[in-house]
Amino acid sequence: MDILFQPFAFKGLQLRNRFVMAPLTRSFSPGGVVTAQVAAYYRRRAEGEVGLIISEGTGVARPAALNDPNVPRFHGERELAAWKRVLDEVHAAGGAVAPQLWHVGAVHNRSSNWAPATPYESPSGLTRPGRKFDEGMSEEQVADVIEAFAQASAYAKALGFEAVELHGAHGYLIDQFFWDGTNERSDRYGSPTLPGRARFTADMLRAVRVAVGPDFPIIIRISQWKQQDYQVKLATTPDELEAWVTTLTDAGADIIHCSQRRFWEPEFNGSDLSFAGWVKKLAGVPVITVGSVGLTNDFISGGSGEAAKVASLDELVRRMERDEFDLVAVGRALLQDPHWVRKVREGRTGELQDFDRAALATLT
Ligand SMILES: Cc1cc2nc3c(=O)[nH]c(=O)nc-3n(C[C@H](O)[C@H](O)[C@H](O)COP(=O)(O)O)c2cc1C
Repeated sequence: MDILFQPFAFKGLQLRNRFVMAPLTRSFSPGGVVTAQVAAYYRRRAEGEVGLIISEGTGVARPAALNDPNVPRFHGERELAAWKRVLDEVHAAGGAVAPQLWHVGAVHNRSSNWAPATPYESPSGLTRPGRKFDEGMSEEQVADVIEAFAQASAYAKALGFEAVELHGAHGYLIDQFFWDGTNERSDRYGSPTLPGRARFTADMLRAVRVAVGPDFPIIIRISQWKQQDYQVKLATTPDELEAWVTTLTDAGADIIHCSQRRFWEPEFNGSDLSFAGWVKKLAGVPVITVGSVGLTNDFISGGSGEAAKVASLDELVRRMERDEFDLVAVGRALLQDPHWVRKVREGRTGELQDFDRAALATLT
């Protein structure tokens, strides 16, 4: 396991090991303000030796950035003061944090009738291919969203966070621009090509870079799969993937967080390289892998009730040894057990826990 416990340094970021807490929405922040219980929950992960904590998705300053009133915002005096308490607690325990900046785009709240005060914002008013609810954002709204991400990034830096992550995955706003199934725009943010549809994100990355300066790490999370379609691939060949991710790195992305449901799955035929492995090879920047680390089942099937049992880390180590990725994000295993990383380091594998959906109900 030693390779997973090598320190990692990038720009100002100094991590004690290669483990990252994956962003996990918990909806325990009433009125959009993180509570003392949420701060203690993150502190426990830092005490449990997580290298970098990526926060749950937190909303940028747009009225329809979020679809749930219990998800925290990353703007406003009270909201930012509460986030500062999270940061102080994590720092006191030797950890580092990056907020995950989020705009849900066209993804409506599915579990209640709650809706934001203004209409959901999206590239073309499509919740999924073929399902239209309005005409999509004006160019002015697009510019305001870009500005909101830049402003939130500036807050993150000013408060003392170690990095920011832009949520560009899973079918939310940024990903809705990437995907031709939800981006039918005819202005400069629409295009038949993936690099063309990545222009929105490239403009955002450049604005974020101006806001945070050259030395502050910008992470972007991307995925081929969408919650609207688990099988879709934005890039169907390595060449398309290279064109996409180099558009992002050229615009200022430092680290790419490659979301897969199962980290070991090959991305393209003819090679066993994962999504993260391909991105590292093609973009030449540090990458984060994620997806069922330490568990037998992925989080989508796990979410529908299947059990996720403890699984071996041998394949993770094998891929790390061949330099397929730099960092490893862990979601449910860390949601279940704040001491997961420490237990792995100490070889206490017999004490690792299965993931039980009951863990979602509390902030353990
Ligand atoms: C309860 C829950 C909440 C999540 N919230 C987010 C989120 O806010 N942002 C995000 O990018 N991914 C989110 N994800 C996805 C996780 O970050 C991660 O990619 C996924 O759980 C796979 O990792 P795992 O198999 O180790 O759990 C969430 C997953 C779960 C289970």
